[in-house]
Amino acid sequence: MIELAPSILSADFGRLVEQIQPVLDAGATLLHVDVMDGHFVPNITIGPPVVAALRKHVQVPLDVHLMIENADDYISAFVDAGANWISVHQEACVHLDRVVEHIRSRGVLAGVVINPATPVATLTDILDVVDYVLVMSVNPGFGGQRFIPRTLGKIRHLAELRAERHLGFRIEVDGGIALDTIGAVVQAGAEVLVAGNAVFGRGDPGHNVQQLLQAARSATLQKA
Ligand code: DX5
Ligand code: ZN
Repeated sequence: MIELAPSILSADFGRLVEQIQPVLDAGATLLHVDVMDGHFVPNITIGPPVVAALRKHVQVPLDVHLMIENADDYISAFVDAGANWISVHQEACVHLDRVVEHIRSRGVLAGVVINPATPVATLTDILDVVDYVLVMSVNPGFGGQRFIPRTLGKIRHLAELRAERHLGFRIEVDGGIALDTIGAVVQAGAEVLVAGNAVFGRGDPGHNVQQLLQAARSATLQKA
């Protein structure tokens, strides 16, 4: 099932709830929350208090993307704040299996993320236990960057592995998703699509969500 996850990173932090309602009304079925620590990525964003505040106003699942070191130390705080999906970077977790098991043990969906330069092969031994894989199609740290086309091959590779091994993880893509790139990622095999700048950057966010979903669904039809 195709799902669009607007990234609040590109929304107006002073008017978050006001900006979010129209994108949910327009068909977005989860919200992507980018957590950055100024160490793993060169930017600092938000933490559990903002997730808790959102949780009070928003009914859809909160998809929390941790771009932080020592992620294991913060899993509980994000679950308690109301996160429903939590993903951690392969590159930031020495004990990736332990962190993934920790997330799952708290009853939320566990995802693993790979940067543009990290091969799918690094996930071979974790694919059986993750609920989703997030393929970064930009280098993490900032919204509004340009989509890196060679990440499409990794989405295809993951979709092939999933079929070969009869696994059920979902494939999410994050970075530079817009009207001109969303069709290609869906055709490659992605079904959870994060978009920040293309939703909140210009124009009406609700209308942008409708257009992105329409483009994604028509790409699914072409694939079938
Ligand atoms: C980048 C973040 C993304 C970001 C995407 O590090 O992980 O979620 O918000 O923004 P756009 O859609 O503008 O590339
Ligand atoms: Zn993200």
